[in-house]
Amino acid sequence: MSEESLLRKYNVAAPRYTSYPTVPYWENDDFTAGQWQGRLVAAYEQHKSEGISLYIHLPFCESLCTYCGCNTRITKNHGVELPYIDALLKEWEMYCTLLGERPKIKEIHLGGGTPTFFSAENLKDLLQAIAGAAQFHENAACSFEGHPDNTTEAHLQVLYNLGFRRVSFGIQDFDPKVQFMINRYQTPAQVQAITKLARKIGYQSINFDLIYGLPGQNMKGLEETIREAIGIRPDRIAFYSYAHVPWVKAGQRHFTESDIPQGDEKFALYQRGREMLVTAGYEEIGMDHFALKTDNLYIAYTENKLHRNFMGYTDQYTHILLGLGVSSISDCGTSFAQNAKTVEEYKKYINDGLLAVQKGHLLTEEDLYIRKHILNLMCQGNTYFDTEIPAAITERLQPMLNDGLLTIKDGEIKIQPKGRTFMRNVCMAFDNRLWQKQPQTQLFSAAI
Ligand SMILES: C[S@@+](CC[C@H](N)C(=O)[O-])C[C@H]1O[C@@H](n2cnc3c(N)ncnc32)[C@H](O)[C@@H]1O
Repeated sequence: MSEESLLRKYNVAAPRYTSYPTVPYWENDDFTAGQWQGRLVAAYEQHKSEGISLYIHLPFCESLCTYCGCNTRITKNHGVELPYIDALLKEWEMYCTLLGERPKIKEIHLGGGTPTFFSAENLKDLLQAIAGAAQFHENAACSFEGHPDNTTEAHLQVLYNLGFRRVSFGIQDFDPKVQFMINRYQTPAQVQAITKLARKIGYQSINFDLIYGLPGQNMKGLEETIREAIGIRPDRIAFYSYAHVPWVKAGQRHFTESDIPQGDEKFALYQRGREMLVTAGYEEIGMDHFALKTDNLYIAYTENKLHRNFMGYTDQYTHILLGLGVSSISDCGTSFAQNAKTVEEYKKYINDGLLAVQKGHLLTEEDLYIRKHILNLMCQGNTYFDTEIPAAITERLQPMLNDGLLTIKDGEIKIQPKGRTFMRNVCMAFDNRLWQKQPQTQLFSAAI
């Protein structure tokens, strides 16, 4: 079957599997914040020596990027910084009290929104208070997302002094026509300058986010964007498929669907982008990610040490991930918990002395088992059963097996090069919760 026919067959709505079960399938009715705390404390007792991962969500942005699917709050009022930091620190203290100590932090990521909306001084105060006297784990992986348009030398230097060695710049596309459609502007010269500065300061891993399938995008513009990006030579490039979910993100209604490349056209953009990245020496890792052979993510991938969590791919693994801030998700291995989704609700919980947990899920034995296989597939491209593969899974995999997207041999399910693009579809075959309750309405963006 040609790639185009495969695309037509498999381009269905599919989750991105940053967790299993995926958020729409969490059994929130059976969940309480008290149970989350109980499971977290039990997991911490077991795993505290390895340290924890910490995600801090900083939701503010000065302007709305209309394509954006993340939890954001648009404002030009920087008076919001200090009250929000105050709430984050109270939340952190509540977790420290619950765990009976200040956990060792092995990985920290500042995401958004736009973390560089905050002044360098405010970020410094926040992070110093979080790390406390213990500071970060000596080998901690500390990273942040920066907008090339407002990341300053002070941001880079202050965070470097605190142990940050990785930065991810959101670029998306350099084509002025696309930038106008998505209301997000930065020139290659700006990105080149900030990347050069980050390297000079000592950052070891620089990532660019690019997206294919954006409104107004065409082959010529995408080729030019990738040419400019690889010319600057970041260590990693995330090449995401544009997730069109206007029923959740009203900003995406700023353009019409006829402006968005879809189906064969979108797939051709992905193929060409991938080809250019690979030719330029970037290795494809898991889903959406490309890295130079010298980058830690690639090294982790070759050593089978890649992990995937709510922050995406990482080379660090801890059993416990705590998410601070509005809409953040935490994971203690046996339970997920998500914070309130508006800044007002979040602050109300915290100022009332409560964790801001608003929904979650307690993982069952079956969830844990399926989660392990989905993680293996997303990170290594294969998974192994030492007992018989459940019939329901083999049955769902059969069409993909027939189409040569994977092989099944001696208990091993292995995604083939032809099946790489359809990794989300392969994982879907394992997703019992999705099959048990097919959604009435569309929940996820298309697989491609
Ligand atoms: C929260 S954004 C942060 C970017 C960073 N704060 C900045 O402004 O440069 C993280 C990344 O998610 C990706 N992203 C956001 N919305 C998306 C969508 N609808 N489809 C695909 N990727 C998306 C973008 O590549 C973006 O850089």
